[in-house]
Amino acid sequence: MRILLGVGGGIAAYKAAELARLLMQEGHQVRVIMTDAAQEFVRPLTFAALTGQKTLTDMFAIESAIEHISVAQGHDLLVIAPATGDLIAKLAHGLAGDFLTTLYLAFTGPVVIAPAMNVNMWMHAATQANLETLRKRGHRIVDPESGYLACGMTGPGRLAGLETIAAAIGRELSKRRDLDGETVLITAGPTQEPLDPVRYISNRSSGKMGYALAEAAAARGARAILISGPVRLAPPRGVEVVSVRTAAEMREKVLENLEPAGIVIKAAAVADFHLSKVPDHKVKKTAARITLELDPTPDILAELGRNKGDRLLIGFAAETQNVEQEARRKLESKNCDMVVGNLVGGETGFESDENEAVLVMRTGETISLPRAPKREIADRVLDEALKLRLALYAAHGR
Ligand code: CTP
Repeated sequence: MRILLGVGGGIAAYKAAELARLLMQEGHQVRVIMTDAAQEFVRPLTFAALTGQKTLTDMFAIESAIEHISVAQGHDLLVIAPATGDLIAKLAHGLAGDFLTTLYLAFTGPVVIAPAMNVNMWMHAATQANLETLRKRGHRIVDPESGYLACGMTGPGRLAGLETIAAAIGRELSKRRDLDGETVLITAGPTQEPLDPVRYISNRSSGKMGYALAEAAAARGARAILISGPVRLAPPRGVEVVSVRTAAEMREKVLENLEPAGIVIKAAAVADFHLSKVPDHKVKKTAARITLELDPTPDILAELGRNKGDRLLIGFAAETQNVEQEARRKLESKNCDMVVGNLVGGETGFESDENEAVLVMRTGETISLPRAPKREIADRVLDEALKLRLALYAAHGR
């Protein structure tokens, strides 16, 4: 694989030279980018000699004004080691004032960040908030180790072991390819069922879990098609987004896009009822009390379950109690292969950036995923989906 190694300006910069060597020994090609501060600690020549490639340092001393783009496109993974507090802040906020940070913005592949700094800088709320932003973006943070630091203090801040960083890189690289050539169809968000031209019934779904799943699937090489109800989220990188409003529209777009999909994940919180005949004009407050008569919406998941063919079908169950039991009931009644059960209405759930989930499988297995950012939960769901598919193939020759 072709790896970009970004080196920040900390004492641990010298360890990046060993990391470059280790990655080369594993058979990767390594291209090094150094910040100005990094060059105060180690010379670019050290890396050039180790990697056999010119070290990139200066935005303006290169052959082409768009070299950061071509370098970004020509590599499989970006690792930043050591990542200083300053560099982490710049990455988190998208500041792109030098070659490394500009390259970071142009890079669409997996990113591994190995921080190293003084313990107080590491524990600072600003650093921790920036790291959280990077984690949510799907980057892998290799936490520093605790120990004696160059500043004379003891605590977390020392660059993680090189073997640990190399292992994290290996995991990201193998992950990236495991959905190559696949199409994953995902639904997300609530639906809105109109009551008249200005009012609707909906629910508290934010769409974050479905968007995280689509982003994770795309990052792992899939063509990800996201059928999204109305949400306030930016389209994830590399995902085809189809916007819908009602359950009926969602059904139509799911069926339209179903054919190429080998995996279907129904994370949307589809309204169960709607008004079949919506008045053309705003309903006036003429009566003291009104009664709404609602009809059921199409159950998209159940319909897919009846005609799923070889597809792996994953449903969601957002519950306020008996999560596992309800998830299993929905797995059976809607003929799913997996149901992701979540507890909603408390701290995690709809609007939260974090989630905890219980995965119930067609094989009878149940897996609990402890509380984590939704993007991490998304990767775990995809990991388990791929394992489940293998198990089902083995059991039924599907
Ligand atoms: N679902 C769907 N179409 C619907 C309702 C639900 O496709 N009209 C899907 C959701 O996307 C989710 C799963 O079914 O993946 C479970 O949704 P949920 O609303 O929890 O299930 P219901 O069948 O509505 O069960 P209940 O209301 O009894 O909890």
